[in-house]
Amino acid sequence: AEDGYELWLRYRPIEAARADGYRAFATQLLAGAATPTQAATREELQRGLRGLLGAAPPLAERVTRDGALVVGTPASSPTIAGLRLDTEGLGREGYLIRSVVVDGRKATVVAANDDAGALYGAFHFLRLLQTRQPLDRLDLREVPRLKLRVLNHWDNLDRHVERGYAGESIWDWHKLPDWRDPRYVDYARANASIGINGTVLNNVNSNALILTPMYLEKVKALADVFRPYGIRVYLSARFSAPREIGGLGTADPLDPRVRAWWKAKADEIYRHVPDFGGFLVKANSEGQPGPQDYGRSHADGANMLADAVAPHGGVVMWRAFVYSHETPDDRAKQAYAEFVPLDGRFRPNVMVQVKNGAIDFQPREPFHPLFGAMPKTPLMMEFQITKEYLGFATHLVYLGPLFEETLRADTKAKGEGSTVARVIDGSLHADTLQDPLTGMAGVANIGADRNWSGSHFDQANWYAYGRLAWNPDASSKAIAEDWVRMTFSNDPRFVAPAVGMMVASREAVVDYMTPLGLHHLMGRGHHYGPGPWVDGGPRADWTSVYYHRATREGIGFDRSASGSNAVAQYAPAVAAEFGDIARVPEPFLLWFHHVPWDHRMRSGRTLWHELVHRYTRGVDEVKKMRAAWDGLAPYVDAERHRQVAAFLAIQEKEAQWWRDASLAYWQSLNGRALPPGYAPPP
Ligand code: GCU
Repeated sequence: AEDGYELWLRYRPIEAARADGYRAFATQLLAGAATPTQAATREELQRGLRGLLGAAPPLAERVTRDGALVVGTPASSPTIAGLRLDTEGLGREGYLIRSVVVDGRKATVVAANDDAGALYGAFHFLRLLQTRQPLDRLDLREVPRLKLRVLNHWDNLDRHVERGYAGESIWDWHKLPDWRDPRYVDYARANASIGINGTVLNNVNSNALILTPMYLEKVKALADVFRPYGIRVYLSARFSAPREIGGLGTADPLDPRVRAWWKAKADEIYRHVPDFGGFLVKANSEGQPGPQDYGRSHADGANMLADAVAPHGGVVMWRAFVYSHETPDDRAKQAYAEFVPLDGRFRPNVMVQVKNGAIDFQPREPFHPLFGAMPKTPLMMEFQITKEYLGFATHLVYLGPLFEETLRADTKAKGEGSTVARVIDGSLHADTLQDPLTGMAGVANIGADRNWSGSHFDQANWYAYGRLAWNPDASSKAIAEDWVRMTFSNDPRFVAPAVGMMVASREAVVDYMTPLGLHHLMGRGHHYGPGPWVDGGPRADWTSVYYHRATREGIGFDRSASGSNAVAQYAPAVAAEFGDIARVPEPFLLWFHHVPWDHRMRSGRTLWHELVHRYTRGVDEVKKMRAAWDGLAPYVDAERHRQVAAFLAIQEKEAQWWRDASLAYWQSLNGRALPPGYAPPP
């Protein structure tokens, strides 16, 4: 059944007209199986080629025919050693795919320095077939730009997934360690196929129990399953664990007993999982415990944990998503205010993990001002793959363009071209940070649903995340095309319209939910439907009115010099642009400025008219997506077509809901009519 379980690794038979052409490039398979990673690589190639070509090529020790496929490392394969390829600079994870001649026979070689690189190369080779690329004259060289490419599971120990819309957690803690669900292997295969090399198993709002011996046995079982696929396991550490499970009266990071406890805990974890990746920590944020409870800094807390894992090669990913309990003048400013003074004070095995924007995973945010502002600290990107603020699993929103927009944003920290991608890959600050840790984290959208992600198209967000973590300068459109071909069909009548829908979908959601820089207007708590009227409650910054500040006269959050001056956290050239109502890019207008309803936009419309136009345009775009998908029925199996179509119908209904509810609310404040041509709903 086409239930989406296989993700983008479907390996369906290549159409007969082309299959013979591909078979000529897989007449023999030379691939070792001396290590678990080699065995996994060989198995994947056999599985993939069997599916795509009807039969797996016979295994061979030497190249004896044209069309051999040779996979491995100089150590695992005498044939590769004999080729004397230039593997320098590939590191552990990079690889080459090349058309070569071996003993007078044509062959394709997938070569790396290490088993992990060969595994990634094997998946890439399969992708070439899956996407129907030519295989003659290959000369590919791939090296990941970031070292840590990590999923963050916000999974609780009771299997509830915070902000998860794909069912319960896939970690079946109750049956672990003895029952290892085969799904764990498929999870590892999917991740390895896109280069993800780490996974944080538990929620950032963490439960200290994960660090107890009973759970460490379970963690070990998962780590053992993932290891052959190059995936390391990490855990979210609860800062107060020494008190909660350690019997200490304090968790003060400068207290010697606390430091000794964490050191012993780290040693214990590494006895279970020798290649344990390290800790992810949410501290002093949204009520979570942290070093500030003891008058210590984020650096004190992070460094204590870093010292505990350093002897074992572990890292600490310390989150910058912090905001204080007191009502702030502008929540957007708080992370910068707390972290910039600590620049240079973190141990080298600490990364500060920064969300893409300063508020919270909105449909659109300007890049976080911390990027470019901490030249002596490795910053890790945190994206949210699960769509907490973007319509959960039912709205079709391809996040590739959102990720790409942030990565390509120019911090101007060191002049033009100081992109966020260059901050996180370490190249921008190479003078102040030698060979730093680099990485990207993605809050996973994975659950126990058959299709893993809650909807077929949400699988693309997992996929795009992995590909962009490997290469932050990759094109989200090209990635969408690969995904569509692998997941659905290579038929050009399908590929172009499907990619078109995906690429347009992100702007559509911005338009119908939060156009022109509006943000955080979702219903309180659940964050699903519209709630721009939300007011009152425990904190000002958990309301919508805090963010939009609409009145009879105007709308928007003044973060320019006349307001909270959050713009001053950006490099001067960026601050000057964002802070000037005449120069700010219109997509960020109401993020940075409070603007009269009659403000003249670049289109010539007034702000009010432009808002109405954008909300309506968002709804229209969803209508177009729906119509496009209807036309694609001939090229997709009925099962998946039906579900996507049903979800698009929900999305259209709810886009209309967002538009109508938002406009009615703005009208209740500004007293204005809809401009001509934008009829009220019947
Ligand atoms: C958001 C989200 C929370 C999450 C938090 C975080 O506020 O709604 O569920 O815990 O982000 O990233 O820590």
